[in-house]
Amino acid sequence: MHHGLTRRPRLGNHERMKVLFLCLGNICRSPLAEGAFRHLLAARDLTGFEVDSAGTGGWHAGEPPDHRSIRIAFEHGVDISGQRARQLAAEDFARFDWIVAMDDDNLRAAASRRPSGPRHARARLVAMLDYVPGPRVHDGVPDPYYGDLDGFREVWRLLERGMPHLLAEVVQGRGQGL
Ligand code: 4NP
Repeated sequence: MHHGLTRRPRLGNHERMKVLFLCLGNICRSPLAEGAFRHLLAARDLTGFEVDSAGTGGWHAGEPPDHRSIRIAFEHGVDISGQRARQLAAEDFARFDWIVAMDDDNLRAAASRRPSGPRHARARLVAMLDYVPGPRVHDGVPDPYYGDLDGFREVWRLLERGMPHLLAEVVQGRGQGL
């Protein structure tokens, strides 16, 4: 569909914003987060973002997302089956503007691996749950790996609620990250 002159909102300096979602294995939560964020960007007709996900651990590197994550995303019209897991790398701290951790373990692991020196300190490290409104019933986005499909549904529900608030902050370029 052609939208003529109103085709795109004015993007300002959040064009080329780079956002990395981080969990432990990069097969359950952060692939869903990446999918949910991409889905929101598409729904708002926002372009120019770079979105990726990674795990603090590398055990599943090269693997597609867990079939349960693929299924839950698919139920919401999002195809994450093409994603491949990878481990967080030192370069990610220089490459990304934002690193969004799914839980406090991921946050601490990333904080301890941040390379020293201002050139490498660019990424803002934040917790996903801080963007989810409402009462806090979890410490972080709960790890669903050893649970059932309901755990994956809860992950999606949290992500879906939090993403508009995360996006708002990314666009404003503010944040209280570590
Ligand atoms: P994720 O879930 O961090 O949300 O991708 C997990 C995936 C794999 C493992 C743990 C959590 N694992 O122990 O292999």
